[in-house]
Amino acid sequence: MIRHTLRQMARQGQPLARLLSTQSTDSTTTHFGSKTVPTSEKADLVGEVFSSVAGNYDVMNDVMSAGVHRLWKDYLVTGVMRVDETVAHLSQNPPPQTDPPTPAFRHLDVAGGTGDISFRSLDAINKSLGLSSHSPPNPSVPCPATVTVCDINPDMLRVGESRATSLYGSQNVEKMSDRTPSSPLSSSKPLSFWEGDAQSLPFPSSTFDIYTICFGLRNVTDPSAAIKDAYRLLKPGGRLLIMEFSHPKNPAVATAYDAYSFNVIPEMGERIAGDRDSYQYLVESIRKFYKQEELVEVMEEMGFVEVEYEELNLGVVAIHSGWKI
Ligand SMILES: C[S@@+](CC[C@H](N)C(=O)[O-])C[C@H]1O[C@@H](n2cnc3c(N)ncnc32)[C@H](O)[C@@H]1O
Repeated sequence: MIRHTLRQMARQGQPLARLLSTQSTDSTTTHFGSKTVPTSEKADLVGEVFSSVAGNYDVMNDVMSAGVHRLWKDYLVTGVMRVDETVAHLSQNPPPQTDPPTPAFRHLDVAGGTGDISFRSLDAINKSLGLSSHSPPNPSVPCPATVTVCDINPDMLRVGESRATSLYGSQNVEKMSDRTPSSPLSSSKPLSFWEGDAQSLPFPSSTFDIYTICFGLRNVTDPSAAIKDAYRLLKPGGRLLIMEFSHPKNPAVATAYDAYSFNVIPEMGERIAGDRDSYQYLVESIRKFYKQEELVEVMEEMGFVEVEYEELNLGVVAIHSGWKI
């Protein structure tokens, strides 16, 4: 019934993304966890949360999920993205070269934080190209494949840059401080870090083959704007993958999940990171995010086709996939 009414309103000219929006009906206010705040303030509030958790972010992820977030991320990169197969295919069937030469494959990881998805992607790329993680790039030839990490929060990115430098060596990592705001996307280093807002990213249209956003979309003030920008940034044939905490459909699972989230996670945040409020927000923001089918509709409204989703751990997490044609 609700869906029917929404569809009718959409037919009357109101975009479905707005009707399904995680923002409240009054567009001057929005949700920040379970609080209602002025829309213009949400990005700063989210920024404070992630600046506060940045130093403990990786250890807290392991503790809160008992390490399972690693399996979800492995599955996203090697089971769904299958970046190794794509890169292996491209290295055997290289696309016509452009002038100046550009990488055959570009992965953009938005809300990439401390780098978990991008490192998995680069490892898969290196493996399929037979490179070791510390192989020096050849400065006279563009990398065959690159991974660009982008996030609105420089504190999260700095943790990511430092992890990346130890994993891959500074010769393979372009940091934010290595360039001016007008520098183009790197073609000579396989991994680069960029600051930017998912709602309007600082890259040219039709640039990327894959756009991922993992546990990030629910934090964006207007998630539909981020999905629209993802469509702009992808090349025709490119794929958007959204991994996000979701809504278990089984009532027993939903109840158990709620009990764990609301009782245990803020308490862990307090004890381990000395920060209950940030973890309270992270839990509340999950409940305010689109339901699985709603996100499908917003992706379709923004132009994506063959949109589908897969639930992990009984709907605790969902991976949505869509293609740009
Ligand atoms: C829960 S973390 C996820 C980090 C990483 N993707 C992972 O899975 O470990 C959410 C990230 O979203 C980022 N974020 C929030 N709003 C954003 C926006 N508007 N644009 C880009 N990144 C944003 C935060 O700074 C934070 O790093």
